[in-house]
Amino acid sequence: MSRYDAQGRLELADRIRKTVLPERGQIPMFVYTDPDVYELERERLFGSTWLFLAHTSEIPNPGSFVVRSMGEESVIVGRGDDGVVRVFLNACRHRGMRLACEDFGEVANWRCPYHGFTYGSRGEFMGTLMGAPFERSAYPEGLDRDALHLVEARAEIYQGLVFATWSRSGPSLDEFLGDVRWYLDLIVGRAEMEVVGVPERWMVPTNWRLPSENFTADAYHTATAHSFLSRLGMVKGVDFGRDGYHVDPGGGHGLGIGVHFDGESYFPAELAEEYATRLDGGQAQTLARVKNLHGNVFPNFSFLIPNFIEIEGRRVSGAMLRVWQPAGPDRTQVWSWHLVERGAPEWWKRLGRKMYIQTFSSSGMFDQDDTENWEAQTRSSNAALYRQEEFLLHYGMGLDAPPLPPGEFPGPGDVYDGKFSEAAARTYYRVWRNHVLEEVR
Ligand SMILES: [Fe+2]
Repeated sequence: MSRYDAQGRLELADRIRKTVLPERGQIPMFVYTDPDVYELERERLFGSTWLFLAHTSEIPNPGSFVVRSMGEESVIVGRGDDGVVRVFLNACRHRGMRLACEDFGEVANWRCPYHGFTYGSRGEFMGTLMGAPFERSAYPEGLDRDALHLVEARAEIYQGLVFATWSRSGPSLDEFLGDVRWYLDLIVGRAEMEVVGVPERWMVPTNWRLPSENFTADAYHTATAHSFLSRLGMVKGVDFGRDGYHVDPGGGHGLGIGVHFDGESYFPAELAEEYATRLDGGQAQTLARVKNLHGNVFPNFSFLIPNFIEIEGRRVSGAMLRVWQPAGPDRTQVWSWHLVERGAPEWWKRLGRKMYIQTFSSSGMFDQDDTENWEAQTRSSNAALYRQEEFLLHYGMGLDAPPLPPGEFPGPGDVYDGKFSEAAARTYYRVWRNHVLEEVR
């Protein structure tokens, strides 16, 4: 049964309009895993919005590339010898075969493994058909180079973060990110950052939006789902997730900043100078109080400074990026990057890697807690799809609470005192609804 026809789509749009009411703190559970909602998202959301693909340190040289996804579509992210990063649909124009079959590499050109059509990977010839086997005898009339150019996405970079979109006419990346840029700077702009190793990937039987909204606006779950931190004496009390700020920077992005009151920065003194040269006064002052920071760039790109924990007697954290790549309405491929300051002291790099593996890698303690919940929510949603009445969920935390007056916090956006708020999740669903109902652009 599919509503994938004009009438069905109108009915679905009507149902979304009537029941997805974040203004009232109401989200119906069917949107979590409904296959028809997912089809709308593939086309109207992943087909048009900016999507994070890679960090520039992953493609350092001319000819280096990585293979990533935009929604479910495979793309090549490559750097030309002119230094420009370009993004192409990973599909040969001859028969649509996947052009780059490896995860990453460094090549002089891309050659299709099926019939051998070969495309440039360098500078202005990136994505241009350079030749085909036995071209003169197979195609005596010649091949139209322009018509056979790889399909190219629009790519832009912010602080080393490579994003792309299929939209030709939408907002620029800067306009799209807006006020969340000030907060992204604290993670990836505070120093010259580099990705450690290659990103980890694993599959989770959940809808991609559940982890995305968790990073956007869910500090509340930490007291219950991650209470081990307190029980093992790694933090002071189970309410460790409350102290700090919840931020709704607009655009569907969202974040929470956990702060400490110890006076001195938890970050290594060796990096203080680099931080000071790259951050403005308000950002430096905020970073000095950070004990953790979680957030999400709409729709599915999360960022994190995990809770500082003690390893080998030293307090350590780091920087982490996530993409919750949809692989069907109830399956998500998790991409997880660990980043570190290139100029960091050896101890911070070594212990930071241990911190990453213990907390938020595929075997991380936090991920195991979270995954259990996202899986079960997904199963509940699939079960509810077979029922007639709406299963309405509660997204009302902080609905009537006003943000801090301007000037109370150095960063932009609506900033709430204390992290227990779902304000940014409500904006997330407003923006999401606009996309799937095509009320944007
Ligand atoms: Fe969590």
